[in-house]
Amino acid sequence: MTLLTDVQLRPVLDSRGNATVEADVTTEDGGFGRAAAPSGASTGEYEAIELPARESIEKTTEHALPHLEGEVDVNHQRDVDNALHEADGTGNFSEIGANSAVAISMAAAKAGADSNGVPLYKHLGGAFRGENFPIPFGNVIGGGEHAKDATDIQEFLGAPVGAPTIEDAVFANANLHATVGDILDERGVGAGKGDEGAWAPPISDADAFEIMEEAVTRVEEDVGFEIRFGLDVAASEMYEDGEYVYSDTTRSPEEQIEYMADLIQDYDLIYCEDPLDENDFEGTAELTEAVSDTDCRLCGDDLFVTNVSRLQEGIDTGAGNTILIKPNQIGSMSDTMDAIELAVRNGYETVISHRSGETEDTTIAHIAVATDAGFIKTGAVAGERTAKLNELMRIADRAA
Ligand code: PGA
Ligand code: ZN
Repeated sequence: MTLLTDVQLRPVLDSRGNATVEADVTTEDGGFGRAAAPSGASTGEYEAIELPARESIEKTTEHALPHLEGEVDVNHQRDVDNALHEADGTGNFSEIGANSAVAISMAAAKAGADSNGVPLYKHLGGAFRGENFPIPFGNVIGGGEHAKDATDIQEFLGAPVGAPTIEDAVFANANLHATVGDILDERGVGAGKGDEGAWAPPISDADAFEIMEEAVTRVEEDVGFEIRFGLDVAASEMYEDGEYVYSDTTRSPEEQIEYMADLIQDYDLIYCEDPLDENDFEGTAELTEAVSDTDCRLCGDDLFVTNVSRLQEGIDTGAGNTILIKPNQIGSMSDTMDAIELAVRNGYETVISHRSGETEDTTIAHIAVATDAGFIKTGAVAGERTAKLNELMRIADRAA
């Protein structure tokens, strides 16, 4: 029994300059954990509800902290998370805000780890794991909701599948990011960066595919191992009145399925996230079947929102074979672990993910190692992204 004795909540800056919630949790034996909530821009319709940071802090302080301080055991994470759910009372954290809930939940896990004198990934169940490392997806070209006047497809992601070590993988993605920058330069295309540090050039999706292929070839020659790439289409963001609206065309749902299947086959994509609208389980199942002879991980982000009921619907209908895991989409560590467990039991791959608005928090790196996730999606460059990548390399080095 290790009582949680104190929770402090404060607004801090996220990577977009918005206020987000940071939580400090202290235990009776001096254990300490600090965590901060990330925040999405292309958020799914069915995510847990984030409130403005200060409003969430005020409501959580009033309604939830009395049920936590001196009341729960940090070695029983479910007690912490149940107390948060009970204090909230809505099922989706719309009363106290999923941002405060997830910050407290993650900070309590870290305080538990600290109190036990183990790294977070071990506290989360990684005593027999921590040997395999996730393949990092590196966002190197992007647009959609993360950058104006750039690609329609939200993210083009490097996947250094042949990297012998996590260090090789992380640096290969950074190399890919730099190489894409060089190719844009050579083509005379000026580009800023989007919210996740990816290049956000004013080019078509077709040009982005060409540049990705070129960049992957160059980096493969340089590093000597296989690199592939994938996409986060974030298709819900372009779905309007029954059609997918691109800058240069519109596609019906059937045309979108065909287009996605062609892209997966033509570019040997290892990954394709949210290829269809977040309500289209049937279409996603159709696409999953259409590309079942490839090794493409067809992933639900807005489709599943880290929610076991939505994932179960995917399992039942055959929609996708991979789930994106974002703790703040569901609001607690326990709910996050439940989604991972349901996925693993049903043969779904897991991708532990950052949000477009991030902080220096590294919890997702530990979740990925603790649960033996196949992949982690956390950008390629920018401090709030490298925080997670550097933590992965520290864990590999056993220094974390
Ligand atoms: P978000 O984007 O954090 O803005 O939702 C990331 C994603 O869609 O995967
Ligand atoms: Zn996504």
